[in-house]
Amino acid sequence: ASLLLLNGPNLNLLGVREPELYGASTLSDIVAQLSADASTLGHTLVHLQSNHEGVLIDRIHQSLTDGTDMILINPGAFTHTSIAIRDALAGVKTPFIELHLSNVHAREDFRQHSYLSSIAVGVIAGFGQTSYLLALTAASEYLTNKTP
Ligand code: DQA
Repeated sequence: ASLLLLNGPNLNLLGVREPELYGASTLSDIVAQLSADASTLGHTLVHLQSNHEGVLIDRIHQSLTDGTDMILINPGAFTHTSIAIRDALAGVKTPFIELHLSNVHAREDFRQHSYLSSIAVGVIAGFGQTSYLLALTAASEYLTNKTP
């Protein structure tokens, strides 16, 4: 299947940014590992990171016509602010998994609410780089069974 990995704002700084929260791996480490894991499972993984809400929205819209079967998204802080990203995901109806490196539920109050969770297939948070692998595994199962 064709999987789209989206990473939102500040995730380009992984490895440098608050490593006690987000780990020591860089985004390119994570994406390289995940692409390898995806191909082992027989999937292709395309990746986009952007610090710009509109760029993420445009890429979500492209999933309507580019054959994307499922989206894995770490929306960064847009999780907690972006009705527009929610509307884009709801509009294209491409099933998606929301994922986070940190356990957002163990953090500040303003991270407790996600605009995306209620329309996601599922949510994974708190496992660092492994959150990405768990999301890939879950996507692979979901696409086989068509149910979470
Ligand atoms: C994050 C959690 C968000 O609250 C935060 O704004 C991020 C990263 C995570 O992966 O843990 O940028 O999505």
